[in-house]
Amino acid sequence: MSLEGEIRTLRDERGAVILAHNYQRPEVQDVADFVGDSLYLSRKAVESDRPILVFAGVRFMAETAKILNPSKTVLLPDPRAGCGLADSITAEQLRTWKSEHPGAVVVAYINTSAEVKAEADYCCTSSNAEAIVRKVPADKEILFLPDVFLGEYVRKRTGRKIHLWMGDCPVHAKLRPEDLEHARAAHPGAPILAHPECGCSTQAMEHVDKVLSTDGMVRFAEETRAPEVVVATEVGILHRMRLLNPTTKFTPLSEGAICPFMKEIDLVDVRDSLAQTRYVIDVPLETAAKARLALERMIAA
Ligand code: 13P
Ligand code: SF4
Repeated sequence: MSLEGEIRTLRDERGAVILAHNYQRPEVQDVADFVGDSLYLSRKAVESDRPILVFAGVRFMAETAKILNPSKTVLLPDPRAGCGLADSITAEQLRTWKSEHPGAVVVAYINTSAEVKAEADYCCTSSNAEAIVRKVPADKEILFLPDVFLGEYVRKRTGRKIHLWMGDCPVHAKLRPEDLEHARAAHPGAPILAHPECGCSTQAMEHVDKVLSTDGMVRFAEETRAPEVVVATEVGILHRMRLLNPTTKFTPLSEGAICPFMKEIDLVDVRDSLAQTRYVIDVPLETAAKARLALERMIAA
């Protein structure tokens, strides 16, 4: 039997659902039940009636699924799948920051550890960060963390008083305004899509046609009639875009925009994860209870 066949059989025998992020390896996306961005996958994790969730993504996504679904078993097929951005702030650092701004409302991007989420008032993803910030009462200051570029983008869009944590994603921060200028000249007329974590999206907005989450980019790909589109994010997204729209040419802003954490999981890991119930993601009950409210606000927005 093929590896894909083994995975599907085990999935059904074990009562599992396989969720994969848009940056996963193409073959892992192809075997998943649902593929999408952080918000979509969080919602799918809640909607599923299966007792096991296999999260082909990174640790903070699997932890989020566990916090929202305490009675389900959540598996991360490779424990090395972390996130450089999530590592840029600890709960201790956040507590210190909060003590410097008493009364401020904390909005934490989903790319954070469970312990950091437990200190937050709201969580958000790239697809609802602006909507979440608009929900915070107008007289309140906001601490936004950990991504400085997403925070700056939301600050510009909303005009709110937002203090920014100076974290960034090691993959997206490398995409610079000069790369956009170069793409504009090299691909005249091609719309340029940028993820809000990009170092370039806030600093050279005049070159960006749309700032979108990864699912926003996928929806754009489905609908566009443009002969070519330039995509400023991790290259794993191109697989889905090309499948959904074979007539448009999707060109990455940088071929080197590869997240090593997102590539840790392969098909053998997914098979072994199902066969051996590994690696189980647990979040201490007290941490999960504190983080749940902020995450439920994110899911509802
Ligand atoms: P999305 O929620 O847009 O998929 O982004 C997740 C992520 O990790 C981007 O680097
Ligand atoms: Fe984290 Fe960046 Fe990888 Fe997304 S692309 S998982 S933010 S390191």
